[in-house]
Amino acid sequence: MKILRNKAVRVAVDVTLLVGFIAEFVTREGPDYALHSWIGVVLIPLVGVHLLSNWRWVTSTFKRRTAHPEWPLARFNAAFSIVTSICILSGFPIWLEWPGGDSLSGLHTITGFISIVLALSHLWRNRSRLNALIGRTPRYSPT
Ligand code: HEM
Repeated sequence: MKILRNKAVRVAVDVTLLVGFIAEFVTREGPDYALHSWIGVVLIPLVGVHLLSNWRWVTSTFKRRTAHPEWPLARFNAAFSIVTSICILSGFPIWLEWPGGDSLSGLHTITGFISIVLALSHLWRNRSRLNALIGRTPRYSPT
């Protein structure tokens, strides 16, 4: 989709994701978990758009695997996605007080802290892309 390749849209989504992750960290201790949880709900479509806008790169790295120069980054990104998905998904049963939801609290806390660290590391490891997106360095090839 053309809009997903638009630089301004991609920058806006990335910045909102960063702000969202920081907001999740700041609101992690309540006292009202509604705000924390709703920010998490908003993060779900944003993560989806972020993934879609980088989908060409994702499929290209996973097709070529070790033959692709960025295979280690692709593996790191996959691990980040899995940990963050577990964190977001485990938040719902706790928030909505589903039976047994309480037992996911430890899992949610651990994956939450790891997600924040991985999000910052993800940003750092993709800094050349970010610089290219905001026009500080020449275009890079996405594949
Ligand atoms: C990437 C997204 C998220 C991150 C990084 C995150 C992080 C955290 C962390 C670190 C805590 C533990 C606070 C502490 O005890 O120090 C926490 C608690 C909590 N989170 Fe999240 N969270 C995220 C998404 C969500 C979502 C989507 C929901 C609900 C739909 C949610 C609901 C809750 C609830 C109800 C608690 C308090 C209950 C407990 O764990 O004991 N969180 N979150």
